[in-house]
Amino acid sequence: MGFSINNQQSTINNPKWEPKIVAFLCNWCSYGAADLAGISRLQYPPNIRVIRVPCTGRMSPKFILSAFMNGADGVWVSGCHPGDCHYLEGNYYARRKLSLFKGLMEHMGIESDRLHFSWISSAEGTKFAEMANKVTKAVRDAGPANYFAKKISILKTKVA
Ligand code: FES
Repeated sequence: MGFSINNQQSTINNPKWEPKIVAFLCNWCSYGAADLAGISRLQYPPNIRVIRVPCTGRMSPKFILSAFMNGADGVWVSGCHPGDCHYLEGNYYARRKLSLFKGLMEHMGIESDRLHFSWISSAEGTKFAEMANKVTKAVRDAGPANYFAKKISILKTKVA
């Protein structure tokens, strides 16, 4: 999906807008990569808010919706490479869950560019920094997601 008129208008109204991105990072791999990127003084945007999870298999689509409801403009989930998950298959479950959820996002009117998924080991600080730049650029291009928070909150009150 492209850049909507609502998003474009919000960016014009607030030129100082910076995207807020919630990153759910696996404790064993991508969290270590974030650490390594920091220690190696690699540059990546400060837009990323990290939440450490024990494994990407622990991820629930509810966490992603909750991030959007609470003002995130984008969500990034990153874990161990295939075959390296410390809980054997957690990342495979995560991949299936998240690709299904990405399809649902389109139905909810949330651009798929707002959700990203990657495999990054704890030795790949450079890859972490590159991916952080890529995710931030994609979410910046998608624009502010404030109106999603309202939309999702309305859906939630109707369901409850
Ligand atoms: S332990 Fe890292 S994705 Fe499962």
